[in-house]
Amino acid sequence: MSLTKPTLVIGNWKMHLNVQEASLLVHRLGKHIKPHRDVEVVLAPSLLALQPVSLEIDRRKFRLAAQNAFYKDEGAYTGEVSFTMLRELAHYVLIGHSERRIYFGETLENVRDKVQAAVRNEITPVLCVGETKQERSDGQTRRVIHDQLTTAIMPLTSEEVEQMVVAYEPVWAISTFGHELAKPGEIEKVFRLIRSEIKELYGSNAAENVRVIYGGSVDDQLAGGYLELDDCDGVLVGAASLNYKQFSGIVDSAYRLEHRSEKKP
Ligand code: 13P
Repeated sequence: MSLTKPTLVIGNWKMHLNVQEASLLVHRLGKHIKPHRDVEVVLAPSLLALQPVSLEIDRRKFRLAAQNAFYKDEGAYTGEVSFTMLRELAHYVLIGHSERRIYFGETLENVRDKVQAAVRNEITPVLCVGETKQERSDGQTRRVIHDQLTTAIMPLTSEEVEQMVVAYEPVWAISTFGHELAKPGEIEKVFRLIRSEIKELYGSNAAENVRVIYGGSVDDQLAGGYLELDDCDGVLVGAASLNYKQFSGIVDSAYRLEHRSEKKP
């Protein structure tokens, strides 16, 4: 884990919680989570709840992420919301989540265009990459990660890559897809691959400073184990982020680990 960057804990609420329910969860989280200098807590509500939630959060404790946006800044695109519209609301945006790739047919190029649009609008992209169960059993993990990562970051400068976040979320480990727990060695291997691909394209600074986080069935019991992994800068949490006790437990684990690493000589 990096000693200089705060640990990132992102709660992806997916298509759950109406505005009222979102407000209740924010209220409960606000009571249980204290501001921590070394832990950055990010909430990703539905697009509909993003604006009301932005008025309710304590900004010393929480930042916001959008779960998606369209890559054009404005125009005749019925039903879409642009990154330009989100720039005052969201600090981060999830891009290329496997649910978007699988259920909504987002291609490598769509993801690349969205990453570019986020950067253009000064929203930090959280680029999600990860192989399916089939790709893993076919021995395709390295190729899939390579393709998803390199296509998405190709148009960026090294400074832009340095600022972004890459989330490794093996599809088979996501609670609603497979719920299979990923082994630490397996995750670390992909983390190393992500940094080495970035190093090759953008040099050591970008590779060292890009934040790489893990997602897939992370809960309050398992979070500490993932956050302790070599090179892990945070976690992306789905189901457990809807439960205030679990999510604040994950934030506490991140805090305890940061606190411990501060004390290291
Ligand atoms: P779960 O934590 O429910 O497995 O979801 C992970 C995820 O997809 C977060 O983006």
